[in-house]
Amino acid sequence: MSDHPPRFTILALETSCDETAAAVIRDGRTIVSNEVASQMHLHERYGGVVPEVASREHILSMAPVIEAALAPLEDSWDAVSAVACTYGPGLAGALLTGVNVAKGLAWAHDLPLVAVNHLEAHVYANWLVAAGTSPADHVDPPFPLVCLIVSGGHTVLVLLRGHGDYQLLGQTRDDAAGEAFDKAARIMGLGYPGGPRMERLARGVDAAGVRVPRAWLGDSYDFSFSGVKTHVLHAMAEHASAGADDPYTARLAAAFQEAVVDVLVSKTVRAAEEYGARCVLLAGGVAANGALRDALIERSPVPVHYPPIRLCTDNAAMVGAAAYFRYRQGLQHDWSLSVKPNLKLIPSG
Ligand code: KG4
Ligand code: ZN
Repeated sequence: MSDHPPRFTILALETSCDETAAAVIRDGRTIVSNEVASQMHLHERYGGVVPEVASREHILSMAPVIEAALAPLEDSWDAVSAVACTYGPGLAGALLTGVNVAKGLAWAHDLPLVAVNHLEAHVYANWLVAAGTSPADHVDPPFPLVCLIVSGGHTVLVLLRGHGDYQLLGQTRDDAAGEAFDKAARIMGLGYPGGPRMERLARGVDAAGVRVPRAWLGDSYDFSFSGVKTHVLHAMAEHASAGADDPYTARLAAAFQEAVVDVLVSKTVRAAEEYGARCVLLAGGVAANGALRDALIERSPVPVHYPPIRLCTDNAAMVGAAAYFRYRQGLQHDWSLSVKPNLKLIPSG
């Protein structure tokens, strides 16, 4: 008998929005391969994701992306222990590609099929071993923990007491944080995707006298970002001549980012204190934002974990990590699995 437990290797797929992704993940933490084919350039000219274009592109990209992900295994399916995919939330047509391909591969190779929630996958990006770290030096985030999930479609604050044990603390009542970044950036003429462009414009800029109001919503852990977006709309209308390279626009970008970050960080820190969290996690595309990371690290009473930038935005490595921990708890799907475009992280939430 071997001294080592057998490795559990998952081929994971992600197609919920505009990235076609496949990854091979070992024991929920080690990235063997992580392939992402972004469609961003196709959607850029429309200023947002066009669902029909996304679905067609997923179908075209899926096979080459999977082939590239499997290459380190030298095409040996014997090394694969399970097939995982995202089944929601997301665009129905986009999700269908990943779910159907995962079903087909699992069936053809007689492997377990494990489908995960896309938001849960973002959380589990924090369990992946960062490049350059040896698996032996890697430390899993300790429970209980508070996780702020901030993406283009969602803003959710959750308490995790263990794997899969989520308690919803708060969520956005209107726009998601990433959506606010994207919409405000579009109003300011920065183009798509707005988050990274807004961050770039605001970097090192002093908001100097420009203030964007915060929506605190009392003691609630809920968020509201439609007001900051409207504020940017009025501010830009008042400065009708201000274009994307006007100094006023850069000050407004800095003030906008400061307002969004202030609310996100204040509520996350308060939740960590109230629930005795041992660490705080950031997850989702907006977790790539340097100002958000820095402010959370500065104000959090406990260590802050966040994935490397490449693992903050949509990828399949995080799907493989989430699927591993959930499979170990007994989660498995059969051929009746269907997509759930409106899937919630917590069913009653
Ligand atoms: O998680 P994600 O890749 O896709 C969804 O599941 O929604 O998140 C995409 C979102 C977009 O709204 C994008 O503008 C935002 O994440 N984002 C950022 C940054 N990088 C990506 N927002 C602020 N600052 C960034 N650096
Ligand atoms: Zn996402």
